[in-house]
Amino acid sequence: MLKGILDYAHYLLKESVELGETVIDATCGNGNDTLFLSDLVGGEGHVLAFDIQEQAISATKQKAADLGKTNITLIRDSHANAADYIMREIGGAIFNLGYLPKSDKAIITKAESTITALEAILSYLKKDGLIVIVVYHGHEGGKTEKEAVLNYVTQLEQKEYHVMRYEFINQKNNPPFLLAVQNRK
Ligand SMILES: C[S@@+](CC[C@H](N)C(=O)[O-])C[C@H]1O[C@@H](n2cnc3c(N)ncnc32)[C@H](O)[C@@H]1O
Repeated sequence: MLKGILDYAHYLLKESVELGETVIDATCGNGNDTLFLSDLVGGEGHVLAFDIQEQAISATKQKAADLGKTNITLIRDSHANAADYIMREIGGAIFNLGYLPKSDKAIITKAESTITALEAILSYLKKDGLIVIVVYHGHEGGKTEKEAVLNYVTQLEQKEYHVMRYEFINQKNNPPFLLAVQNRK
């Protein structure tokens, strides 16, 4: 069976992240990916979860507390500043671009900060580690970010990175697609 976009993103991380590693949720939103990563790395591992909105940080904090998770650090800051928080090798990362569902559609991820964050995380990514990027682009501003991110990952040096795009090409209304960047160095 073909996996959906988010399922495939999770599957790829599951294949590549190991217990005890430090991983990043660059856009924690309602915390679903943060909790998924928390389980993947286990009690000895660590999740750094970023969001610029207090609403997202508190929703994720509540879910983490309800489940007794102690391996998550929530960071209310732009992922563009990720380099200020990364202290060790990163086992993998996820970006869910766009806006927080059922929230202010004007607060969206943007090309410049997304690319700065990608650059920072790539420089700490373990060999064979993956950054997965779920690209939602149907909203206002989404097309500009999509094009800039595609342009950025397309020009990554082939000898250093594998870059993959996974998408359903017969769906209507700008369906999301997945990008995955694997560090070969
Ligand atoms: C599509 S939502 C994420 C959904 C989330 N992964 C989940 O499981 O619910 C995108 C999130 O990115 C956040 N965001 C926008 N710009 C950001 C930035 N520069 N740094 C970190 N988070 C940002 C938004 O506040 C929003 O919560």
